[in-house]
Amino acid sequence: MKVEDFQLSIVIPTYNEKENIEPLINEIREEVTSAVEYDIVIVDDDSPDGTWLKALNKINCSDVVVRRINLKGLSTAIIDGILFSNKEYVAVMDADLQHPPRYIDEMIKSTINENADVVIASRYKKGGGVEGWSALRLIVSRGATLIAKLLLPSTRRISDPMSGFFMVKRSIVAKNLSKMNPMGFKVLLEILERGSPSIVTEVPYIFRGRLYGKSKLRMKTIIAYILHVLNLCGWRPIKFGIVGAIGTLVNLCVIAFFNYYLPALASGLFVLGSGIAIEASTLSNFIMHEIWTFKDRRVGHPYKRLVLFHTTILPSLLTQLITANIIFYGTSTNPILSQLLGIIIGFPVNYVLSELGIWKKGGGYPATKK
Ligand code: GDD
Ligand code: MN
Repeated sequence: MKVEDFQLSIVIPTYNEKENIEPLINEIREEVTSAVEYDIVIVDDDSPDGTWLKALNKINCSDVVVRRINLKGLSTAIIDGILFSNKEYVAVMDADLQHPPRYIDEMIKSTINENADVVIASRYKKGGGVEGWSALRLIVSRGATLIAKLLLPSTRRISDPMSGFFMVKRSIVAKNLSKMNPMGFKVLLEILERGSPSIVTEVPYIFRGRLYGKSKLRMKTIIAYILHVLNLCGWRPIKFGIVGAIGTLVNLCVIAFFNYYLPALASGLFVLGSGIAIEASTLSNFIMHEIWTFKDRRVGHPYKRLVLFHTTILPSLLTQLITANIIFYGTSTNPILSQLLGIIIGFPVNYVLSELGIWKKGGGYPATKK
């Protein structure tokens, strides 16, 4: 595609940005390549400071101001703006001049050259950065990025999945809208996880300090973020924890059963008894993960996964068995307590191995690869 054929809307969500909106539009007009045909879509949530009116007085006739009444929220504003556009590509940027418009040219280039579905302007790619951030703001941003990378596979190879400055092929959003549930501030996560873009690229940029107005980032925003990520990953870590707790109960009940009814397996033959109990809980955990925790990621035959489950978590099972037996035979601790300590030591290895080795991302939903 040639630059002249590139069709672009620039979507700008605003809430109380009256000092920023005019300079921003000026800067866009100066900095975005004149060869590209673009329009501006401002989505304002009825700002009390009248940002929408200022914007209306400033825009060209091809541009638009969407004034949403009784609706609030950054992510939904962005999605509404993307849907409102009728161009093939959409750039999303903040209104507060923290996202310098001059990077839009580079994003256009990357979209064309690499045929990208999503181009992210990244603060954390080499050459990028932030101006005037407190240590606290940096820690919050880095922490949030880490949480996303741990729980959302689509973000793992991206340096700045928390970016609010990006370009996306409009159809990625339009086609997958029914899967999306935009909440909070981080709409890009929704696009990466639910939109299943094939090619994602990043260009480095410097996030500028805010000159006018205040950030709308609050404690509430951080909590909403964590709920958002949990929603996007299907509450998997929480489910995994619940399955683990039930499995622990199964494991300990088997040992308790042996203790009362087959005492040999809870004394001299504890090594066998604890092995049987571990296997019972492994089977019950497997069934619960299949039908609950990872039900959207079942690909291929379940027996294969059952074997894989055993081999993959073998290090964790052996850790449990060895720890329980060392404690039992070495310190004559009660068999149930020995088994419990074995489980606790073996547990952390388990989650990582299951998530990375067995119920990998790729199958099930959202299987919408082109
Ligand atoms: N329409 C609408 N509705 N716009 C909103 C709302 C809302 O409820 N809340 C915030 N905005 C607009 C602001 O006016 C601004 O243009 C943009 O969304 C970002 O809001 P800020 O208050 O400036 O947030 P920030 O600087 O803390 O966060 C930004 O930086 C992050 C990078 O750390 C956001 O852009 C994030 O998306 C970005 O990732
Ligand atoms: Mn900002």
